[in-house]
Amino acid sequence: MKPGHLTRKQLAACGLVGAAALIGGVVFFLQPRTLAEESGKPAPASKQPPQGNWIRGDTDEKFALVAKHLRGFDMTMFETGHRYIDLYWAGKDGNWEFAAYQLDKILQTVELGIERRPPRGASAQPFLKTAVPQLKEAIVAKDGALFEQRFTALTAHCNACHAMEKMAFVRVKIPETRVSPVGP
Ligand code: HEC
Repeated sequence: MKPGHLTRKQLAACGLVGAAALIGGVVFFLQPRTLAEESGKPAPASKQPPQGNWIRGDTDEKFALVAKHLRGFDMTMFETGHRYIDLYWAGKDGNWEFAAYQLDKILQTVELGIERRPPRGASAQPFLKTAVPQLKEAIVAKDGALFEQRFTALTAHCNACHAMEKMAFVRVKIPETRVSPVGP
């Protein structure tokens, strides 16, 4: 045998040692997880991911938790209120692309909000089916005077829905100041 070359036996032995190391590694990797899952105990704080282990339980419980954190119509309205102000100033500035964008986002957020809270759906129909498309017409036409008029009508629909939903104390009025970093 030339020096530096291994015999068949030696090669086979190397292979066996390598395979054993691989299996050992896999077993070592799987073991702690299996134990942690079986015990049902949360990992110690030092081992937890930064977001913590808050999504716990079986699949139904996990979805229920995420749904709870996603919140209800209040968050839909929180977003709608902000976008409503941006929408107004976009129209006043004649930034019609931004106005169209904000109106689309309001439509989307209210529709998704209704998916989460179906009983709110009926009261929202006049807003969705009349006020939004009519304001869209003014934006597409890039007509400042029509925008002003249709925006006022939209605002009345916001408040009409609030009244129907026993939230009349949430009185929406035409914005007087900007709230957004986006400007003219
Ligand atoms: C379904 C009909 C409906 C429509 C349409 C509607 N709202 Fe609301 N709004 C609600 C309800 C219901 C609440 C209370 C939500 C809650 O407490 O879960 C609310 C609450 C709000 C709040 C308070 C949110 C908070 O928690 O701080 C604001 C702001 C608001 N609406 C703005 C608007 C604006 C602006 C429009 C129109 C562009 C509008 N809403 C259209 C039903 C509606």
